Amino acid sequence: MDKHIFDRPVRIGMLGCGVVGSHVARLLLADKEELSTRAGVKIELVKIAVRTIRPIDDIDPKLFTTDAKSIVNDPEIDLIVEVMGGIEPARELIMAAIENRKSVVTANKALLASHGAEMFTAAYAKGEDIYYEAAVAGAIPIIRPMRDSLVGDFVTRLMGIVNGTTNYILTKMHEDNREFADVLKEAQALGYAEADPTADVEGFDAAAKAAILSGLAFHTRVTIDDVYREGISKITLEDVQIAKSMDHVIKLLAISELTPSDEISVRVHPVMLHKSHPLASVRDAFNAVYVEAESAGSLMFYGRGAGGAPTASAILGDICAVARHIAHNSVGQRETDYADRDIAPIETTKTKFLIRLEVEEKAGVLAAIAQVFSTHGVSIQTVNQAGRDTEAELTIVTHQATEGELKATVDALKAMDMVKHVSSVIRVEGALSA
Ligand SMILES: NC(=O)c1ccc[n+]([C@@H]2O[C@H](COP(=O)([O-])OP(=O)(O)OC[C@H]3O[C@@H](n4cnc5c(N)ncnc54)[C@H](OP(=O)(O)O)[C@@H]3O)[C@@H](O)[C@H]2O)c1
Repeated sequence: MDKHIFDRPVRIGMLGCGVVGSHVARLLLADKEELSTRAGVKIELVKIAVRTIRPIDDIDPKLFTTDAKSIVNDPEIDLIVEVMGGIEPARELIMAAIENRKSVVTANKALLASHGAEMFTAAYAKGEDIYYEAAVAGAIPIIRPMRDSLVGDFVTRLMGIVNGTTNYILTKMHEDNREFADVLKEAQALGYAEADPTADVEGFDAAAKAAILSGLAFHTRVTIDDVYREGISKITLEDVQIAKSMDHVIKLLAISELTPSDEISVRVHPVMLHKSHPLASVRDAFNAVYVEAESAGSLMFYGRGAGGAPTASAILGDICAVARHIAHNSVGQRETDYADRDIAPIETTKTKFLIRLEVEEKAGVLAAIAQVFSTHGVSIQTVNQAGRDTEAELTIVTHQATEGELKATVDALKAMDMVKHVSSVIRVEGALSA
């Protein structure tokens, strides 16, 4: 029998009881006995903070309070589950909880991606855990695989579809030939997208997750401000159809990798991905993270990235693990930042690009355009030309080039009289090999 230092239940206080919190509370109450057996210590939900008290599911109304501070300051509470979201007051409440020697389980990616270092440092100084499996890709176990299971390996690269809303929109554009705005409206009606969809469609949510995963993968503090970010709002149906005609899909990817100079290149942007890549088959609102490590090789984690019940599954796993640590006066594997790597400037990141141009249909145009690419050190892999009366559309795929070289090329193309319009520039991953 394990040596237990607790002769009473581990008491849990929750901050928030919305989409995620209400599922956590309901399951903690309904499955209390079974979860306690699995954790190896009795666990008990004793308080829940909300802004406005109202009936939620069958949760005992006596558990609710509007005084969140009273929970983090309660000496009888051992473990705080933060599912209120946002930066403040969540940050202040978590810091107070740690100061009062409480471990924390949180789903708050925005907070971790901006103030993670401060929270981890405080928790480790006090000998407390911070667990956050739900903060990246909902139900998918990815934080503990990265932090615990792969701690003996060397991760070289990860690529993730970590935002369900954008993956849903891109899937519908690809499969049903629908415009971005039309699918976004449907996603909002179905509850997949917020009324203000900016955080999802402009890539902020994915950037927060990219920062968290990069920190774990490369043992360095990475914040959301380190992540280069572009969303999907400029992706047109025409882009999607051209990708499809070339056996590719367009996905919003979070990519983080080590550069040859041992810097971290971390970015979120749309990518044309060959259909043979495992991430290309991730459809609708599903998420997946593809990890490459020196010894393990390639690994893929797939599942539901959001929603009340899937996210609650990850939180309940964290609660059981942390409750066991509390009962045994121990802590789990920690984040480390010893490698302290630099973040690579986006201009130095190398990738392939697809560029679509509308140009004048006349002799010498192709040669002049090829010359611009060559002058800026960008080598062309393929060119396709489709004529339209006095204008032609060129679809050019490059070999690997840096973002800086490509930007200089596009700036020069835009300045040419014979170039009417640069319709799109999309990065390419996977096939189309040289
Ligand atoms: N939804 C998902 O699928 C999902 C997936 C992964 C991670 N997450 C993360 O989980 C967290 C919670 O998300 P959610 O979707 O459950 O949010 P939500 O539905 O908006 O719920 C937020 C809850 O927190 C309470 N709250 C907010 N501010 C408060 C304050 N100052 N004092 C006391 N209570 C406060 C709200 O109370 P009132 O209702 O009374 O205002 C509500 O109960 C976020 O960090 C989110 O990023 C969500």
